[in-house]
Amino acid sequence: RTVYLNGDYLPETEARVSVFDRGFLMADGVYEVTSVLDGKLIDFAGHCVRLARSLSELEMKNPHSDAEWLAIHRELVARNGIVDGMVYLQVTRGNPGDRDFAYPGPETEPTVVLFTQSKPGLAENPAAKTGWKVISIPDIRWGRRDIKTVQLLYPSMGKMAAKKAGVDDSWFVEEGVVTEGTSNNAYIVKGNKIITRQLSNDILHGITRAAVLRFAVEAQMEVEERPFTIAEAQGADEAFITSASAFVMPVVEVDGKAVGAGKPGAVVTRLREIYLDEMR
Ligand code: PDD
Repeated sequence: RTVYLNGDYLPETEARVSVFDRGFLMADGVYEVTSVLDGKLIDFAGHCVRLARSLSELEMKNPHSDAEWLAIHRELVARNGIVDGMVYLQVTRGNPGDRDFAYPGPETEPTVVLFTQSKPGLAENPAAKTGWKVISIPDIRWGRRDIKTVQLLYPSMGKMAAKKAGVDDSWFVEEGVVTEGTSNNAYIVKGNKIITRQLSNDILHGITRAAVLRFAVEAQMEVEERPFTIAEAQGADEAFITSASAFVMPVVEVDGKAVGAGKPGAVVTRLREIYLDEMR
């Protein structure tokens, strides 16, 4: 695999980052994941906007223009022959030469890493036919979940808790209501209405979320942005999650209770189809 590191395209075995990199020592960095379908980047502009915002919230300079980011993404997709898959982008605060809690000055250049992952048939993921089962766990993450940082230990623990419980993912619960999934935004459906938590610092502002809510309104569905409880999800007609890598994925069981008929419903099935049709 060819990866990108600070201006160079290198075999992955030759890409080297310092042990003093603040991404490594402090999880001081941000990332984006963009899906690729039929060689085409999905909703790339949205990911660029969020990347710029994450960097600016952490007082890091954006090392590239959107056009440069696009060129790097395209070059990596081409060099790795990616048909379906994803591009991972990470910018960390770089290597100040020592460990220090204070941010280094402008002389320290950020470390820019991009790589691809091939996932043939990504849009035809068979899991979308059966749906995911989720459990709920307390949300004990920090208070700036709107910044897409590489600080992903608790989401990893959430994924492991799900695996141990024999399900697909965990939904985080804070003050009695769902915030989001380990790496996705969470929704329930009641009749023709889609309910999902409003944007704030408590959740990541999903790029897929923005597109799906736009398509839902265009398809004459109702959208209500407010928090919901696990009990409300269990009593809903349907539930689902969205993310750049899973697109729109039905959720058919929450904490051992079937949602609706316990299989993907009409609304989520339609939304997934619309999303994939519109974005491809
Ligand atoms: N995760 N919420 C969290 C906590 C996330 O990590 C993600 C994305 C989302 C969905 O955002 P988007 O629709 O822009 O992908 C919501 C990515 C896919 C990941 O970490 O792999």
